[in-house]
Amino acid sequence: MKLILGNIIDAPKLGELRIISHGAIELNDDGIITNIYKDIPSIDGYEVYDYKDNLIIPSFVDMHLHAPQYPMLGMGMDLPLLEWLNTYTFKTEAYFSNKEYAREIYKKLAKDLIDNGTTRVCMFSSLHTDSTIILMEELEKAGVTGFVGKVNMDRNGDINLQETTKESIDETYRFLKECKRFKYLKPIITPRFTPSCTNELMAKLGEIANENNLYVQSHLNENKNEIEWVKLLHPDVKYYYQSYEKYGLWKSHTIMAHCVHLSDEEIKSMKDNNIVVAHCSDSNVSLVSGVCHVRELLNNGVWVTLGSDIAGGSQLPMYRNIQSAIKVSKIQDIITNGKDKFLSVSEAFYLGTTSGHRYFDNSNGFEVNHKLHALVIDDSSFTKPVKELSLQERFERAIYNMDKSNIIHVYSEGRRIK
Ligand code: GUN
Ligand code: FE
Repeated sequence: MKLILGNIIDAPKLGELRIISHGAIELNDDGIITNIYKDIPSIDGYEVYDYKDNLIIPSFVDMHLHAPQYPMLGMGMDLPLLEWLNTYTFKTEAYFSNKEYAREIYKKLAKDLIDNGTTRVCMFSSLHTDSTIILMEELEKAGVTGFVGKVNMDRNGDINLQETTKESIDETYRFLKECKRFKYLKPIITPRFTPSCTNELMAKLGEIANENNLYVQSHLNENKNEIEWVKLLHPDVKYYYQSYEKYGLWKSHTIMAHCVHLSDEEIKSMKDNNIVVAHCSDSNVSLVSGVCHVRELLNNGVWVTLGSDIAGGSQLPMYRNIQSAIKVSKIQDIITNGKDKFLSVSEAFYLGTTSGHRYFDNSNGFEVNHKLHALVIDDSSFTKPVKELSLQERFERAIYNMDKSNIIHVYSEGRRIK
């Protein structure tokens, strides 16, 4: 048994912080939390990890990012979505037919995720099956866990980045077979977005997802021109989401990135079907897609999580995406004259940690019977304050100011990996 000592801070519920000054987390030999103590018990018989006055917080979860876009981080950001895809994105992803190149980039991505405290992800790869497996190998080696999707796209791609319908289906089956060897990474069905997939492919992906009990991830209502395009492609549906619903892809735990432009009917359908929104505030501003109405989604009981959407977003670290979600929500508060109240630090922290972790294990913050995913934060390098700070003040300061140098240890699936 292990005992992990320090100042424990997590967010079991939206808007609620639990702060335990000098407490202890007890772990069994499988890395599962067996107890959380407010007062440190007798340490006899324990392997003790004493993090002293440091903060112990849940690790971050990135619910939407594109691994093969890592080499183009911060590029082409003055273009709107559809031009950005055609000018930069598809051309960059095409390079991932090269397995050596994929290995090099994905090794760095996996390390950068852990160094920045992200231990769980829902990630898009490219359409290349072999490179997707390489991505999963590198993530698993580094300690990043979660879901990875081989991207499906059989229309409107690039001359060097598109599959036939048959290739897309055959390669999806091959991908699912190859994934069986991973312990901490699982496959997820990933139609890129409606304009990238023929009806025949969408139908088959829906079948595969439902027959094999697999989750689904895609994009929804990111950009107005994209929405108009979907209307042209599917004149029979009233709302974009119905182009997924038609094919069985709109179901419990389906992750939809962005969801910027939504009507009341769509919000209701998200709630009714237990859809997960991956809110990507940095990307939405960078590509001038719009401002997601996060408060309205939360008020309507929709499951909201955060995504970096690299490289639509330019920031891999989830603490930066938490900061950006707060700031964008404050702009929304200003432009709605306070109707859409901004996200507090603890609310945005909940979205970037607990709300994402729930996708994997239904946990509500640090919780008994769940594997530990945690960060040890050393905030001693911050400027000396004028008076002694409360733990809540130290936490808020860390969320706004931290960088990877403050993350001194990382636990993923109960193992200390950094
Ligand atoms: N919609 C379809 N593909 C993409 C992508 O790669 N990034 C973003 N932001 N939106 C998309
Ligand atoms: Fe995306």
